[in-house]
Amino acid sequence: MKTATGPGLSSLVREQLEKPSPIRQIMKMAERQNILAMGLDPAQVISFGGGWVNHAAPDEFQHAYQSIVSDPDLFHKSGGYTATLGDMECREQIARFEAHLFGVPRLGPEHIAIGMGSTQLTHDLFRTLLDPGDTVLLLDPTYANYEGQLAFAVPGVKIVRLRVLDPETWSYLPETDPAGVAREFARLFDAHRPRLVLFGAPDNPTSQVVPQALADVMLAKTADSGAWLAIDFAYKCQYFQTPPAYYAWSPADRPNVVGIHSNSKWARSLGRRLGWIEAAAPVVDALERVQQCSILCPDTLSQMTMARYLQGAIASGSLRTYVDAANALYKNAARVTLDAVDRHLGRPRLTPFGGLYTVVDIGTNADAFVPKALKATGVLVVPGGGFGPSLTNGVRISFGPLVHDTAKIDEGLARLGAWMRSTNP
Ligand SMILES: Cc1ncc(COP(=O)(O)O)c(C=O)c1O
Repeated sequence: MKTATGPGLSSLVREQLEKPSPIRQIMKMAERQNILAMGLDPAQVISFGGGWVNHAAPDEFQHAYQSIVSDPDLFHKSGGYTATLGDMECREQIARFEAHLFGVPRLGPEHIAIGMGSTQLTHDLFRTLLDPGDTVLLLDPTYANYEGQLAFAVPGVKIVRLRVLDPETWSYLPETDPAGVAREFARLFDAHRPRLVLFGAPDNPTSQVVPQALADVMLAKTADSGAWLAIDFAYKCQYFQTPPAYYAWSPADRPNVVGIHSNSKWARSLGRRLGWIEAAAPVVDALERVQQCSILCPDTLSQMTMARYLQGAIASGSLRTYVDAANALYKNAARVTLDAVDRHLGRPRLTPFGGLYTVVDIGTNADAFVPKALKATGVLVVPGGGFGPSLTNGVRISFGPLVHDTAKIDEGLARLGAWMRSTNP
């Protein structure tokens, strides 16, 4: 098939162009020109759509950037390539960061591959671990990007889903029916023999964590049958309760477990692209080969800064203070959000373990609900269907962008609730 301007695009891309990310579609709807076209005043729009954080990066982190950029020799150095797996000093500091904050034992630079954020790393990890025709087990619901990432990285990969949200009772099944979920996991695993099991902790969009007992079942099953178990820790530093023990699992002890990590959320560094994989040394070595062809090396300035910042902030204790203060902020924003959902919407929702989100049952198809709600109220939420079929009648509400503006959380949900009561959408 030819395009208007040249030869045809690949069939994989053509297929994926037909399935754009549902979240990106919604965020496009909230762009200024589209808001104006709807006859809304952009200044009045309240968005619960963004999957991003809005607290300040650590001061010392900013100072570390300044000290590098203002020094001619260091700035020159920051314009050079690092090793494909990242700068050794930065890999060492990341290992210390994990030991310091979460008690991950025996982690060394040989277990760490640095990349340009966890999105790129996840793509390269899929390429590293999977073959066409393999099966991957995901949760329902879970992060909406995995499906597209899998399709691009490993064409022909099959996905099976373990349901963790009961759409009837709006309960998180691993908490309310742990034995039933463990049984269903074992059944799906034995029936489909996935090569990779992947979940987020806490997950996007539920902000729930897989309990330790279920993680143990997943570990035993995957380890026994030579499969991988990957945990996406994009929100690892955002927790409102004591994290489960697997936050301290080390690839030194569990060679089939892979951690996917990101600087985006905890340090408010979404645009300063830096993430890392924690895995057994052979996986890291294999990622080096893959990254030679995808990024050549991660961003040098970001790595130099991260190494410099962590060295000082671990020694002074300011890293822990910073993470604790950010957690207190998000815990408060989560509390305001839940109060407002209960008062204004009066609909079932989940209580976040950490992260930036809750999901609310709106009792009707959310794909139809969300554009109507935006037009009528100027309030944007994300329809749940893209995260998995269990969320077809649910929406994701993100309090991350409004963490310093909690009055808007209440105002937005009050507007939405008033409209829902008046129209019964
Ligand atoms: C579960 C999850 N993983 C990964 C990412 C992407 O992170 P990064 O900025 O490191 O690419 C996100 C972003 O929202 C996410 O929600």
